[in-house]
Amino acid sequence: MHLPTLSTLAVAATSALAASLQRVDNFGSNPTGLGMYVYAPDRVAQNPAIIVALHPCGGSAQGWYSGTRLPQYADQHGFVLVYGETTKMSNCWDVHNPASLTHNGGGDAAGIISMVKYTLQKYNGNASKVYVMGGSSGAMMTNVMAGSYPDVFEAGAAFSGTAFGCSAGSESATPMSANQTCAQGQIQHTPQEWGNFVRNAYPGYSGRRPRLQIFHGDADWLVRPACAEQALTQWANVLGLQLTQTVPGFPSQQYTQKIYGDGKQLQGFMGSGVGHIAPVNEEVMLKFFGILQ
Ligand SMILES: *[C@@H]1O[C@H](CO)[C@@H](O)[C@H](O)[C@H]1NC(C)=O
Ligand SMILES: *[C@@H]1O[C@H](CO)[C@@H](O)[C@H](O)[C@H]1NC(C)=O
Repeated sequence: MHLPTLSTLAVAATSALAASLQRVDNFGSNPTGLGMYVYAPDRVAQNPAIIVALHPCGGSAQGWYSGTRLPQYADQHGFVLVYGETTKMSNCWDVHNPASLTHNGGGDAAGIISMVKYTLQKYNGNASKVYVMGGSSGAMMTNVMAGSYPDVFEAGAAFSGTAFGCSAGSESATPMSANQTCAQGQIQHTPQEWGNFVRNAYPGYSGRRPRLQIFHGDADWLVRPACAEQALTQWANVLGLQLTQTVPGFPSQQYTQKIYGDGKQLQGFMGSGVGHIAPVNEEVMLKFFGILQ
């Protein structure tokens, strides 16, 4: 009789346990038919933080999972990653959709909130440590989630996105859309008006608001750097902050950090010569979130 050796058993057990990206079905209300994928590391922390990670147009959960080092950080720090996936409109999020721009209004935003609730419950997550991040369309959606669901997200990080409501009134918000007014940075509003988009998403809400980091490159022709300035103007207005400091050379030589107030609630990072999409800086983001020291 041939028995497997102890070491082959150990290898088999290790690979059977090694975490991977898993699809989740039936996670709750999902009016726009989004896909949900979760990366839970082998050792999930007690009451873990949850980070929702949103892919760019044309992207996928698997692509965005492979596209950043967040899974490795999850292995080290025990947080759970939720990857939403849209397959509509060239796989772009519905950031123009009045439903998503309204608290409890439906749209892609509602499906993402169902993913958060499901994950909080399944992994006994800490509801005070729910974050959202994304690139390009996923960054636009990060601002949408922070605006429509200030009660759900502690903080967010947007890499090359647009302000909340920038595409409102447009048919869609994809690189193929006829209307590129928003992405070209041509929407004109006062700071108060930009702030009103967010306040009007959830009238009467007076609780705390998510903290935000906005990353963008000045060599971005697809989503112009003006879009980042608009997002910063918007959140500064909503959070009641002024630009207090600009720090050249942080986090790397190409970047200038813009600090609003004491920097705990709002920061911008403008990259000189950086195109689309500004690379995800996991470390700077996770420190801002409070997950890394
Ligand atoms: C949840 O996170 C908050 C904020 O960091 C913390 O104060 C609280 O102790 C955490 N709750 C649990 C049950 O770990
Ligand atoms: C284009 O989209 C913007 C929002 O980004 C909207 O205000 C404008 O009305 C739209 N233009 C047309 C012609 O639909």
